[in-house]
Parts: sequence; structure tokens; C-alpha cells
Amino acid sequence: MHLAELFFVSSLSVATFALDNGVMRVPPMGWLAWERYRCDIDCDHDPKNCISENLFMEMADRLSEDGWRELGYVYVNIDDCWSSMKRDDNGRLQADPKRFPGGIHKMARYMHDRGLKLGIYGDMGTHTCGGYPGTTLDKIELDAQTFAEWEVDMFKFDGCYSNATEQEQGYPLMSKALNATGRPIAYSCSWPAYHGGLPPKVNYTQLGEICNLWRNYGDIQDSWDSVLNIINWFFDNQDVLVSAAGPGKWNDPDMLIAGDFGLSMEQSRSQMAIWAIMAAPLFMSNDLRTINSGARSILQNKIAIGINQDPMGIQGRRILKEKSGIDVYWRPLSKNASALVFFSRRNDMPYRYQTTLSKLNYTTGSYQIYDAFTEKTMTLKDSTSFVVSVNPTGVVMWYVSAPAKRNIRQFYRGGRLQGSLFDDDDENAISPVFL
Ligand code: GLA
Repeated sequence: MHLAELFFVSSLSVATFALDNGVMRVPPMGWLAWERYRCDIDCDHDPKNCISENLFMEMADRLSEDGWRELGYVYVNIDDCWSSMKRDDNGRLQADPKRFPGGIHKMARYMHDRGLKLGIYGDMGTHTCGGYPGTTLDKIELDAQTFAEWEVDMFKFDGCYSNATEQEQGYPLMSKALNATGRPIAYSCSWPAYHGGLPPKVNYTQLGEICNLWRNYGDIQDSWDSVLNIINWFFDNQDVLVSAAGPGKWNDPDMLIAGDFGLSMEQSRSQMAIWAIMAAPLFMSNDLRTINSGARSILQNKIAIGINQDPMGIQGRRILKEKSGIDVYWRPLSKNASALVFFSRRNDMPYRYQTTLSKLNYTTGSYQIYDAFTEKTMTLKDSTSFVVSVNPTGVVMWYVSAPAKRNIRQFYRGGRLQGSLFDDDDENAISPVFL
């Protein structure tokens, strides 16, 4: 069989496990209005921040001019409160004419002209959560066609004002309707969040077949309490959630809020690092026009983004929850590499956590370590005791290379073997490496 045929066959078999629209093979990245801008429609008093064309165009300008797009942040997503309170004479959804005079199609063109994508919001039910027209079962096909005509690239389907039976019909029906438009439209389902996010009420096999991502849990708010609550839920339930995720199908713990008001720099790093471990969608909800350089550099951290975007798409896990208040998270990555995050739940002072890679289940060998936030590089043997200093509510995040076996990296100079890069002494006998 030719390689191309082999690829075709194997992609067919993959297609049965994930929504067959080809999008979001790695977690999506971009910007989403809701957490920061909510349902601010008061353009008379708050023209810079109200839900309007202007807001989305300005965010698109920032994404394309301030280095975000090149890092992968390409979606600009409109959330609730974009539409008119009434459908048009043909029963179609329409944008609020004052706040979106050019309509949603103009927004899509604006994004596409800049190498970005547009996301829109709807609700399976009589009304959106904010009280705007919803999509009842009889309107699903029409709305899917409307979004495709507008050249929308992503659709978030919320679940206010519908019951479980309607949702059971509506979410798969919308998936079919979007596919039938012929336009690849990424499909975000809020369905599981309306049923506690866990089996038996939630069927993650089915979700993986009909949706590209799904909100499992409650809404993020602009506070550390909220972020911590989300982290706890996702990792307390990791045995269910990890197996649900993969290329084209992602758990969504909700938006990144670095750059807003509620998180310290440490906490912003923690959110970024743990969202990367979770293979979570990275949708920022903040003001990119005024974001400070600290938050920007966290959100633009290339190692954290690289870990998040790993092509294998395996969601990471919490591997230790220490009595000391340190959690250790781990995610397997392609090229036999991995990511580690040391997170402190403490509130006193930086904690010096001592361990070895072998205690963290690493096999024998020598590893290159890249610290995501200090940008330091070092080599660590599995048996070498090391200490990481983790700040209160903060993290240390590492990219860990594939292991190099001891004694295999012997080097030659002038045609003669000079020695090994790694010696074989008993590492436990020497004092720990302080990082
Ligand atoms: C729900 C969703 C939020 C947001 C609002 C809009 O609460 O979970 O993400 O879309 O509705 O009203």
C-alpha cells in the first residue's frame, strides 16, 4: 500500500472516533468575549467595551499586530448578546443592527482578511442564557445554514432554557446540520455542563463523535477561587475526562483570565501551565488593548503553548497530591517527551519541594529540562535528587526531553573516544540540585 493510501485508511479509522470535520486536531486558541465583557450592550455609555463590531475588530487588530496570531491565537469569538431580540421576517437570527451594522458576515470577512477565524454563539433552547433568541429544534438547520452563509468558523451551542430530552436531540442534530453545510465549523457543546459533567448522565464517547470541544463544568469568573475550583473538579475527575479528549475533541475548562483583575502573576502562570497540561482550549477573555506586559508574556509563553499544542493530544493528569500542599501534574508529549508542573496550594511562602524524576515515574536515563517561565535549561538524571521552589499559588513548569540512556552519548574527539557525557556515580549520595 502506498503511504498516501495508508494515511487515508488510517484517517478513516480515526474519523469514527472524532467529529469528522477535520478541525481542531490540536486545542483551539483565540479570544472569547464572555468572561471579560459579558452582556455589556450599553454602547452609549461604554463604547469601548460594549458588545459591538468595534470591540471584535479591535481585538482582531491586536491579535494580528501584537504577535498573538503567529503563536496560534486565531479565533475571535463572539458570545451571548450579539443578536437582535427578534429573528428577521424569514425566521433567521440577525445581529443587533445598532451594534453590528455590518452584520456577522462583515465580522467574518474582517477576521479572514487578517488570517483569523470567527466564532459565534447560540443556545439550544427557547432563549440564550442572556435572554436573546434561542435555537429550538425546528430552527437548528436554518441557524446552521445561516452561520455557514456568514462564513463563521466556530459555533458555541449553549444549553439554557431547554430540557434534557430536547438537548439529547438538539446537540447531535446541530452537529449533523453544521456538517451538512459543507463548511468546516468547529462545534463547541455546552451540553455536559448542564448535566454535572460526569457519566452516566454524560456520554463522552458520543460527545467525541459529535463535538470538537465541550464545556464540562461551570463558568469561570475573574477570581483565583474560581480557577482553583475548576482545577480541583477537572483533576478530581481526571479518570473520566482524560480518556474523553484527543485530536479533534477537547474538554474545555473555560477561558484564560490572565490580564484581567482577579489573578496575581503567579496565579496567571498557574492557570496557563495547568491549562497546558489539560490540553485545554486556550481562549483568552481579557482586554488585549491594555494588557500589561507580565500577563502578555505568560499568555505568549512558547513552551507552555508548545506543550498545550502537542500533536499527540493526550490530556495530562495529576500524579501527586502531597500533604505539603504541592501537586504534581504530568502530560506525555510527542517525541517521547513530557511536561511536569509543580503547583503550590500553600499560602505561606515559597516551598522547596524535593524529589527525583524516578519518584515521578520516569525511567532510567538522563533528561534535558527546559523551565517554561525562567527559560533555564539543565540536565537531570532520573536518580538525581532536586529541589524546586514553588511560590504560593504558583507553579514551576518543565518541558522534559526524551531520556538519553547512560553511557550512550560517548563522544569522540580527534578520532578517539573521550568519555561519556553522563557518569555513573551514585546520585543519591550527592546533595540535591537546587533549581
Ligand atoms: C452561560 C455559558 C457562558 C456564557 C453565558 C452567556 O453561562 O456557560 O460561557 O456563554 O451563558 O450568557
